[in-house]
Amino acid sequence: MKAKVIISAASMLLLIAAGVLLAVKNNITPKNNRTNEVSETEEASVTEAITEEPYIPPVFVECSSEDIHRGSLILVNRKYAYKEGSNPDLANIYSMKSDSYKVNTVDMRLDKNMILAMNSMLDDFKAATGITDVLANSGYRSYSEQQIMYENDLETTGLSESELVAPPGNSEHHTGYAMDFAIDDGYSYPALKNEEDYTWIYDNAHKYGMILRYTEQNKHITGYMAESWHFRYVGPVHASLIRQMGVAYEEYVGFLKDFTFDRPLEYKYSDDEFYMIYYVPADMESGKTEIPITFEAYGDKDRYSISGNNSDGFIVTLRIDELSDDYDDSYLYMFNPIQENVPVDDFVSEEPVQEEAASDEPGQEESDEAQNQEETQPGNAENAEEGW
Ligand code: DAL
Ligand code: ZN
Repeated sequence: MKAKVIISAASMLLLIAAGVLLAVKNNITPKNNRTNEVSETEEASVTEAITEEPYIPPVFVECSSEDIHRGSLILVNRKYAYKEGSNPDLANIYSMKSDSYKVNTVDMRLDKNMILAMNSMLDDFKAATGITDVLANSGYRSYSEQQIMYENDLETTGLSESELVAPPGNSEHHTGYAMDFAIDDGYSYPALKNEEDYTWIYDNAHKYGMILRYTEQNKHITGYMAESWHFRYVGPVHASLIRQMGVAYEEYVGFLKDFTFDRPLEYKYSDDEFYMIYYVPADMESGKTEIPITFEAYGDKDRYSISGNNSDGFIVTLRIDELSDDYDDSYLYMFNPIQENVPVDDFVSEEPVQEEAASDEPGQEESDEAQNQEETQPGNAENAEEGW
């Protein structure tokens, strides 16, 4: 996301003053005191301000209205369409992937951070189980690819609205942050299911930033059948939180709207990693929104991220040094209890590739794949033998 960091002259003066005071009293680490409630009288008493933690004003990052549609937290569903071209970070999976899994076609693309997350997850899965037959089956899809799938599904089911394939323009697959996994058994390519050794993936995907997007528990919210194969990348902090809360992504994005920079959601990600998460509504009138971040985060891109929510604002995720004294994690239990075991159903895959793979001509499919690879990766005989 392109963004400008803005520090106003007044803020800069306050920051310098605060910096000097902090240096003098160097054992004071400014707590994440986001309340802007210091009155002028209080500010006048410098000594008091030091002993009671100085107020450090936020720094602002400027985002445009276009940025609302960018980032790994955008909500794309039946209601909110994807704005074509909003993810500039699509990369070729085949050229980036580790050797712990396969990819269906050599030209398949995905967000590059999600590819790295898949690499880590499936490397660890391989280390834990020895299994390398997970197939990255369908990642980024163009509008026209989705349209073909959608029309095929309507034709097959006779329905007027698909329960399995999103209408073109409204699929998470357009974003590059969604992957459908299958198993490369060399013949029928079944969809990934939460069973046998593969339960490891369902138990651990959140640590790598992925959530199972469509479940039995949330189908009344998402409007889609449960899909044991469709994983969505939102980053490890949000994936862990969503899993703990047991919420649908729609519910989660709505829930976050109650939190502001001054009153953020705090999250204990681990014993020594804490976050504040908050929503900033977009200033639609001016087309530019000033997003507050803490001074500590300024200049440290590893410390915070800003994502659009794809409708009306921004979600900020910012690492903090400590939780506030009144930290309360009861919000974790507001929705559904944690779902340890995602039920295993006899899923019908959304994927045309798997339908083809399940056809009576597996040999034909294999030779098509081999030819495709030969054309794209000449001389890569080793991989051609192993399959990808
Ligand atoms: N199967 C999901 C809903 C999609 O087509 O994006
Ligand atoms: Zn999918």
